[in-house]
Amino acid sequence: MATVRRIGLSLGADLCWPAFYEDIIAALNPTFSVGGERVSVDIERITIEPFALQAPVAYDVVLDRLTHWYHTSREWIKKAIILDGTYVLNNPFTLQSMEKHTSYVAMMRLGMPVPETWMLPPKGYEQAPDLDVTLATYARMFDLSAVGDAVGYPAFLKPYEGGGWVGVSRVDGADELQRAYDESGTSLMNLQKAVEPYDLFLRTLGVGPQVNVIRYDPDAALHDRYKVEFGFVDDDELRLLEDMVLTINAFFGWDFNSCETIRRDGVFHPIDFANACPDSQVTSLHYHIPWLVKAKIRWSLFCAVTRRPMRLNPEWGEFFAVADSDMAYRDKLAAYGEIARRRFDADRFTEFCDEHLAGLDEAAYEYFATDRARGIVRNKVAATFPEHEVDEFTDHFFGLIEFWRRTEADRLGSGS
Ligand SMILES: Nc1ncnc2c1ncn2[C@@H]1O[C@H](COP(=O)(O)OP(=O)(O)OP(=O)(O)O)[C@@H](O)[C@H]1O
Ligand SMILES: [Mg+2]
Repeated sequence: MATVRRIGLSLGADLCWPAFYEDIIAALNPTFSVGGERVSVDIERITIEPFALQAPVAYDVVLDRLTHWYHTSREWIKKAIILDGTYVLNNPFTLQSMEKHTSYVAMMRLGMPVPETWMLPPKGYEQAPDLDVTLATYARMFDLSAVGDAVGYPAFLKPYEGGGWVGVSRVDGADELQRAYDESGTSLMNLQKAVEPYDLFLRTLGVGPQVNVIRYDPDAALHDRYKVEFGFVDDDELRLLEDMVLTINAFFGWDFNSCETIRRDGVFHPIDFANACPDSQVTSLHYHIPWLVKAKIRWSLFCAVTRRPMRLNPEWGEFFAVADSDMAYRDKLAAYGEIARRRFDADRFTEFCDEHLAGLDEAAYEYFATDRARGIVRNKVAATFPEHEVDEFTDHFFGLIEFWRRTEADRLGSGS
């Protein structure tokens, strides 16, 4: 009899990737032999309901998409980690306590070229009992334009914990800064120097030790931001970007994240990398979605089958020791990258995939040609686009997946 490992999907509005994920695992129907034991996997969608704090949680691994905003799930997940040893992508404790702002600070500490960034007190406040006396006693009137001058223009004023471009303004001078700040309400805001002009904008996806560097155009229409391009960085740059995203993800214990990086004068500046629930929709990722689904399948199966323990203590000291050494920046980044690969068990993961998941590429290749896959794309498009555009955009996104199948056939055929 096989022992079953249970993987739970903690989902919100995601329609496409979970269905692809479930279908491909069902087609693959993998069983594993681990330490003389036969192991199979069971995938379930997790429901939301009251729970006793000590009621056992049966999931070995949870892929979570709710923690950052839906607190019933967040608290259930935290208790599952503590009481039941569940492994969760991503670590809810660091997600809850570290926003974009702290991620900037931390990577500055490691020497990454995060642009000059300031924190501003909020423009407005919700009333609180001690607010008036606190502000009257300690809040200094400040000259916003002096902060603008210190940062330099153009700059981006953005919420310190933001996402989805909400409240983000590009400002070109003191007047625009004042206007944007006056409209920022009660949000804590960062003012960050713009990396402009730039010659390359990237989003790098990391899932466990797996990395995919994608060219990105933030000025394009939403459906056209992730580009289908190849060869836009050389091998050294590719390694640097891999080291960068793995460092960030290992540092915070985020198994799944995306890092926005801008290249200017040959330097890669990370500007937004606290995206621990990154965009996973076919309507934005199109050509790249099969990579993401396969990466999630490999990593979640590895974590579940090998009963990977969750790292609860971030253990930053190892990174700081490298940061405090007199190595050059690129060497430090390589050293952080090695720590990260070790923490993500990169070698054992590769062996696991070679031994147990050799059929995954072929299964995904077949799957993404099916009517069922096309139907899932259509479902997602129908939920996102107006009715009269549904056919056109279904063809568009599924066409890009078909193009992925062609490049994938070349890759598999060449044995690389
Ligand atoms: N320092 C910067 N230099 C250049 N462009 C920037 C900078 N900061 C932000 N931007 C631009 O503004 C966009 C939104 O900023 P940011 O990514 O920090 O916000 P966000 O709300 O997290 O967005 P998302 O959720 O889409 O990633 C970026 O994708 C980029 O185009
Ligand atoms: Mg962003």
